[in-house]
Amino acid sequence: MSMQSSLDPQSVTDAKAGQVTVPMWLVVLLAVLGYWGMVYFDHHGGWFDARVYAPFASVSVVNELQPVSGAEAFVNRGRAVYETTCALCHGSDGQGKPGQAPPLAGSDFVLGPSGRLIRIPLHGLTGPIEVRGQVWNLAMPAMGAALSPEDLAAALTYIRQAWGNNAGPISAAEVEAVKAATAGRTLPWTAAELKSIQ
Ligand code: HEC
Repeated sequence: MSMQSSLDPQSVTDAKAGQVTVPMWLVVLLAVLGYWGMVYFDHHGGWFDARVYAPFASVSVVNELQPVSGAEAFVNRGRAVYETTCALCHGSDGQGKPGQAPPLAGSDFVLGPSGRLIRIPLHGLTGPIEVRGQVWNLAMPAMGAALSPEDLAAALTYIRQAWGNNAGPISAAEVEAVKAATAGRTLPWTAAELKSIQ
C-alpha cells in the first residue's frame, strides 16, 4: 500500500516542484547596471590615454603639462574677470559693440598710461570719447569699483595684452595707489580729464 502511494504521479510531481525562474525585471536591471558600469569605467578610468600609458616623448612635452607660471596665471585670472565683468559690453573679442561700447583692441586708453586706464573702471566714464578714429558718446558705469585690486589689475593686464594689444602689465599696487589718490571721487571721468593724466 505504501509503495503504491509513493509512486502516485501526484507526489512525484510535488517532489520536483519549485523550479526557479529569474524574473525579467532582474535580467533587465543587471543588463542596465552592467552597461552603466562600462560607461562609468570608460569615463573614469585612464583607458588607453597616452598621457597615462605612454612614456613622454620629450622634455617639452612634459613642460607643456606643467602648471602655468605666475605671469600666465595672472593673465588667465584677468581673462576670467574680464569675461564676467566687461565682455558683456566690450565683447569677448575686445572689438566693442555698436551703440553699446567702444573697442578695447587697439584703443589708446587701454594702451596708454596705466593711471588713465585704471581710473576708467574705478569710477566710470561719460561723454564723448574717440577710440580708433570713431566718436562714442555713451556712459560706462564704475564696473571695476567692486573688484579687488588684484582682480582689476589682472583684468586690465589681460586687455593690455589680448587681441594684438601689446602694453605692459598693471599691478595690484598700481591699482591701490590710484584708488588712494582718487578716494573722494564719485563722478565718472571724461575723456578730457583722462587725457591730462600722464
Ligand atoms: C555696461 C556696459 C559696460 C561694461 C560692463 C564695461 N564697459 Fe567699458 N565702456 C562702456 C562704454 C559705454 C564706454 C564709452 C563711454 C563713453 O562714451 O564715454 C566704455 C569705455 C571704456 C574704456 C575707454 C574707451 C575704450 O574703448 O578704450 C575702457 C578702457 C573700458 N571701457 C574698459 C572697461 C573695463 C576694463 C571693463 C570691465 C571692468 C568695462 N569697461 C566694462 C561700457 C561698458
